[in-house]
Amino acid sequence: MKDNIILTGFMGCGKTSVGIRLSYALKRTMIDTDKWIEKKQERSVSDIFAEDGEESFRQMETACIRELIETENHRIISTGGGLPAREENHALLKELGRIYYLKVTPEVVFERLKGDTTRPLLQGEDPQKKIESLMAMRQPSYEKCADYVIEVSGKKFEEIIEEIVIKENSRL
Ligand code: S3P
Repeated sequence: MKDNIILTGFMGCGKTSVGIRLSYALKRTMIDTDKWIEKKQERSVSDIFAEDGEESFRQMETACIRELIETENHRIISTGGGLPAREENHALLKELGRIYYLKVTPEVVFERLKGDTTRPLLQGEDPQKKIESLMAMRQPSYEKCADYVIEVSGKKFEEIIEEIVIKENSRL
């Protein structure tokens, strides 16, 4: 197993923001799977969804994880919200590192992502309902695929970072 710190969780749970702060706190560089895919594809996640469909994007995510296993170590890796929903990614994520699931409520996600145009899955009629149903559907996968569950709703970034740093240090 590799020594990466992997952040998972629903869209808007704060993976990127927590990841950036954590990278300063632990002096590790950060990789974001969405950005990694966008760079490789030279187009945005929204364009990939629109042009090739969701299934193609899911295959790119799995390919991304496979490549990171081969190439990366001692990093912080922030993952797209749908990655743990695919069963075959669980063993790959475990191989890639320790998995911290940032657990958030649908209310917090809705508040944070109101008006967001970059998440293709939330662009429909009723984003609030979509957040609730998608989160309920994915919850078991997130839990199953986690080494640690960190509740993030209502917490300051500093508190979240501290929790993760304590867990990391207690392993040493
Ligand atoms: C998705 C989450 C997004 C991105 C894509 C699909 C999902 O990443 O991968 O829009 O299925 O939950 P974030 O979780 O970083 O928003």
